[in-house]
Amino acid sequence: MRTAEIKRRFLAHFEANGHTVVPSAPLPAIEDPNLLFINAGMVQFVPYFLGQQAAPWPRAVSVQKCIRTPDIDEVGKTSRHGTFFQMNGNFSFGDYFKAEAIPMAWDLLTKSVADGGYGLDPERLWATVYLDDDEAIDIWHTSVGLPLDRIVRRGKADNFWSMGIPGPCGPCSEIYYDRGPAYGQEGGPAVDEDRYLEVWNNVFMQFERGAGSDKENYPILGELPSRNIDTGMGLERIASVLQGVDNLYEIDEVRPLITKAEELTGRRYGLSKSHIASESHPDDVRLRVIADHVRTGLMLIGDGVTPSNEGRGYVLRRIIRRAIRSIRLLGFEGQALPHLLPVARDCMAPSYPELESDFERISQYAYAEEDAFLSTLRQGTTILDLALTETKQAGGQALAGTKAFQLHDTYGFPIDLTLEIAAEQGLTVDVEGFRSLMAEQRARAKADAAARKSGHADLSAFRSVLDEHGPTDWLAYSTLETDSTVLAMLKDGLPTRHAAPGEIVTVILDRTPFYAESGGQDSDAGRIAGDSVEAEVLDVQRPVKKLVTHQVRVLHGELHVGQKVHAAVDPEWRVGARQAHSGTHVVHAALRQVLGPAALQSGSYNRPGYLRLDFSWRGGLSAETRSEVEEVSNLAVRKDLAVTANVMPLAKAKEIGAIALFGETYDEDVRVVEIGGEWSRELCGGTHVDRSAQIGPLAVTGESSVGAGSRRIEAVVGIEAFRYLARERDLVLRLSELMKVPSDQLGDRVTQLVAQFKDTERELEKLRAQMVLANSGGLAAGARDVRGVAFVGAEAPEGTGAGDVRTLAQDVRGKIDPARPAVVAITAKAGGKASIVITVNAKAKELGLSAGDLVKGALSGKGGGSPDLAQGGGLPAEQAGALLAAVEKLVGDRA
Ligand code: SER
Repeated sequence: MRTAEIKRRFLAHFEANGHTVVPSAPLPAIEDPNLLFINAGMVQFVPYFLGQQAAPWPRAVSVQKCIRTPDIDEVGKTSRHGTFFQMNGNFSFGDYFKAEAIPMAWDLLTKSVADGGYGLDPERLWATVYLDDDEAIDIWHTSVGLPLDRIVRRGKADNFWSMGIPGPCGPCSEIYYDRGPAYGQEGGPAVDEDRYLEVWNNVFMQFERGAGSDKENYPILGELPSRNIDTGMGLERIASVLQGVDNLYEIDEVRPLITKAEELTGRRYGLSKSHIASESHPDDVRLRVIADHVRTGLMLIGDGVTPSNEGRGYVLRRIIRRAIRSIRLLGFEGQALPHLLPVARDCMAPSYPELESDFERISQYAYAEEDAFLSTLRQGTTILDLALTETKQAGGQALAGTKAFQLHDTYGFPIDLTLEIAAEQGLTVDVEGFRSLMAEQRARAKADAAARKSGHADLSAFRSVLDEHGPTDWLAYSTLETDSTVLAMLKDGLPTRHAAPGEIVTVILDRTPFYAESGGQDSDAGRIAGDSVEAEVLDVQRPVKKLVTHQVRVLHGELHVGQKVHAAVDPEWRVGARQAHSGTHVVHAALRQVLGPAALQSGSYNRPGYLRLDFSWRGGLSAETRSEVEEVSNLAVRKDLAVTANVMPLAKAKEIGAIALFGETYDEDVRVVEIGGEWSRELCGGTHVDRSAQIGPLAVTGESSVGAGSRRIEAVVGIEAFRYLARERDLVLRLSELMKVPSDQLGDRVTQLVAQFKDTERELEKLRAQMVLANSGGLAAGARDVRGVAFVGAEAPEGTGAGDVRTLAQDVRGKIDPARPAVVAITAKAGGKASIVITVNAKAKELGLSAGDLVKGALSGKGGGSPDLAQGGGLPAEQAGALLAAVEKLVGDRA
């Protein structure tokens, strides 16, 4: 029976028994600060169990998406643990209780397939109950007819359920399916939970629990207002039973991912010799991890989680990274997610169609995360491998905490990976040391933040101004200047009454035409002037809702509280600000027109003449795409589209498709800015031009990456765009004069010159190498005998590159009779420093000589390499001779 059908039958069974079908809540557990993700079907109903809210229905049934990661290390090693799973559940809110819940579950499980049930053999089912729950035993035995020897009493750890945090809880009764002797030992669920698979949990929600230290130790605070039922039937588990497969990774919604991973890696799934999951072949375990984690990644991004370094985003990041690492361990080196994620989508989209329509966005985040991780891996793994080898060579058992910290801090290499890789090589990691370095770093960051904050006024000062004087009368949309009165002033966060010339203070006016920085738009510039006083406005903010503050520098005269002033925005500035902000909307619309709706703005900044916009996109834009975005933008300018701003209820704005930004919070009423009607429709509080032609020319000046899956486009507008283009034109003119070709041939000319230059460089390189090597025969012939070792100590010609010095040393070594032990040491001088390359032949190695040791010996530890070839440097150039003498002496001592 397919998973989708199992789900359908579950809902139908309970709907027929008077339950209302309730959709799954999204995975992030936003309502509950103690929980990152929804981890059970009942989470969305907690307020009803606790009696905080009246349940809208007495009975409900749902299939809830869940994430559980505490057992992430068990994934693939048992048949039961998946990070993402779906939980079928029926719920009673003070309605029916044990006597009805147990038979309802039994009925669905054992009813024949033809009658809409799952058709399980009743002889294979077992039940467990909480220690003293005689009532449940009686229902199982008397009403259901289950023999007493298949009803097992178990303790709190197994049969008393809570979410693991304070909230509703209660004793439970679970149903187990016996998969037969191939899956483990006989004796019931208490003996073997892989053979006896838990398929159904009936929780009798009766109590409220407090905080505790583990699964068993927490206080019961009291009884819930009513007795409830919360049941959970793991959809994947029952699917594995009904589909006759060993575990949840082999069911129809997951197995295609294993098949794809087999294809990519050339490994074969199913090498395990037994059905018992804990005895699985390591390749099988890895293939299961890949399948589980890729599916979880898809579902998480689908529900709005994006990779980051904390909270939910970190869980996602870790899951994606574990999947990628597992597939690499199976020998696949390239980008795996573009192959795997579409398979996961095809498995899950029949139940969750939004995965299909939103796949563009989902995949961008996933693929970008993989790109970023692969480059982290490339850098970090090399460094880690070296550190692990050094640790082993030094006879250590544990990688130093400083090393693990450096990998984390400098290369973003995750500690869990460091632990895993170290363990694979039989080493541990000094986790204590790592933790204390992390703690120090956090303390430093906190101190920094505190220092920065104290530079700003305490918000309470602003709040008391607001309490005393009320909200600022804010006129930015309607006028550029107004008369007003100074209500209050702050200096360094403290109230002040006067400000003298040169002083910088924060001024609060009763009304103001100044735009306070927000929505990406920089604040207005301008002046506040009064009777013989003038101040320049440096910054305008809204530190608390409804209060606008101006940071000003007094130019002349004295500013004081109560003064009548005239506040005037610099009109030129505002023209530029409006152009830039409308330009930002135009570029956003153009991006979405060219790249598709997934190119959604994630941040922006604009000030007169300049704008930048960050948007979600994977990979850079080609030159053509950039030009296209620029062209679409300029065409929109030319069309002279009307720009309008209307205030409307948020629901209405959403209905007409206005773009709201992810992570922003909006009021009930919002302002919708349109350019050309629906062509660009965004929620925005900024100041805009009246018609698009007023934006003037728009030139894209740059496009770059700002983190995984996020790009930044920059542009100049209006007169700044003209100036930018004029500068570019002047540059072309100058170059074409220099190159002596017309500007349209400039490209060809430069390409030709670059090619010529490269040829010349190669030629030069060859000549230099020949010159250096020409001498090697002479050097080999001049080898001196140092206690039976042929020793060559020489200085490379001035200007010889490091690579050439190595080639020379090896060449000289090759020219010495291999039957003689030989050591060749060549020094070179560059930039006032001396360096040395030492190479040793096989005979000399037999005598115990090692190039690495010689370099270390001569340079007191600075430098290194292999026993055959090593190098070091950093001494003052005049010590080159002494360095050779030192090596010769070491050879003499050791030979
Ligand atoms: N809340 C219980 C569980 O998750 C039953 O739904 O097992």
